[in-house]
Amino acid sequence: MSEPQDTKPLPTIFQLTPLDPTYRADPHQVLDDLRARCPVHRDNVSGTFVLTRYNDIRPLVSDRSLWRDPLNAEEAAVMQRRFADVVPEGAARGETTSILMLDDPDHARIRGPLVQAFYARVARSRPQVEEIVDRSLDAIAAITEQGQPFDLMSRFCVPIPIDAIASILGVEHSRLAEFREWSEGVIQSLNPFRNEDQTAQMERCSEALSAYFAATIEERRRNPQDDLISDMTRLQGEGAPLSDVELQINLSALLIGGNLTTTDLIGNAVRLLLLHPEELAKLKADPGLINQVVEETLRYEPPVDITGRIASRDMEVGGCPVKTSQAFTFSLRAANRDPDVFEDPHRFDVNRKGKPHVAFGGGAHICIGAPLARLEAQVALGKLFERFPNLRFAEPEAAPEWRTLPFFRGLERLELRA
Ligand code: HEM
Repeated sequence: MSEPQDTKPLPTIFQLTPLDPTYRADPHQVLDDLRARCPVHRDNVSGTFVLTRYNDIRPLVSDRSLWRDPLNAEEAAVMQRRFADVVPEGAARGETTSILMLDDPDHARIRGPLVQAFYARVARSRPQVEEIVDRSLDAIAAITEQGQPFDLMSRFCVPIPIDAIASILGVEHSRLAEFREWSEGVIQSLNPFRNEDQTAQMERCSEALSAYFAATIEERRRNPQDDLISDMTRLQGEGAPLSDVELQINLSALLIGGNLTTTDLIGNAVRLLLLHPEELAKLKADPGLINQVVEETLRYEPPVDITGRIASRDMEVGGCPVKTSQAFTFSLRAANRDPDVFEDPHRFDVNRKGKPHVAFGGGAHICIGAPLARLEAQVALGKLFERFPNLRFAEPEAAPEWRTLPFFRGLERLELRA
């Protein structure tokens, strides 16, 4: 591993999450320093190699021969192994965890049919997303007509993704409130530092979701509707090798993945545009720039901080020897602001050209929801600024309130006036 050039201690994983106030206020102070001093950093607290350089991360995150399943990680990789704690003895791996943590052949077997059905749904979902966004905007208009400020997160950024994914899955509107609650509970499965209460909440919500999906899969098999769950039962009927339990787990994964992340993408984008009026002016002058606005937000303020892989062979990274079963933590946030790759990386620039960001990871595990997240963010931002051209911070001097959930970056609240 590369040697630090001075004696200031290197951050442990705990100082690389928003639980740490310095990181929460400005992660890039910490990440720039780490990238400059020790870009391949063996962190003994997480038991992983923490990588921060784009040119190390991009090839590794895209390398399909590396492992993802934490069961393949060495015992010392305590952070990854936390995800492996709950596997019952002798259970089929695909029936214990989602594609997020699976390796081939299970990963490809399950992800294949899911991608096929999901992408086809997303490709036709623009009208549904537009309707959902319009509904939220109508509700906001009712508040702003009385001159009141409002919280964009709870009124807009939170409901849109959950309504969109629920509508694609085929969740009844009457169950949406429960769905939101369950989704928030199960997201704790991504928090390796969760406490006992959070674990209990996660388990309760996860059981409720599984029961809901189990019943709905059965029902749609008998009585297909125009939704993703029916598409999947049809594919099973045509021979897709995927059990009902595997389907349930991965439908939950879509819900978990599709909820908070996209909420944060929309919230972060609105905040950045309001902080950079010259960039917002470009969007207003040319609404066709919306795609670039979303991509630059994903680079500049990605909702997901990290992803990981496990070495499937002895290898060398940035001059450091890595042994089979040792684990990597990739800081997607640090890679996206690497000055060796992005000119003036800390400038929010919607006209930026050059290499793609890594906010969605890469390779076999690249985010399955990326097309939906992009669609939702593009529709939501376009319509929001069209409907409320005078949107502004309610308290321009107030510091942003970032959430503390490790490895995610999003706002607790975003008080605005229109
Ligand atoms: C801006 C929004 C989003 C961001 C930043 C994001 C980010 C990510 C990242 C970094 C990964 C890991 C990729 C890797 O390890 O290479 C991932 C995987 C995943 N995401 Fe997303 N995601 C977003 C939205 C969504 C949505 C909308 C869904 C579902 C509807 C979703 C579902 C998933 C699933 C199921 C995986 C696991 C894929 C696999 O391992 O094969 N995500 N996402």
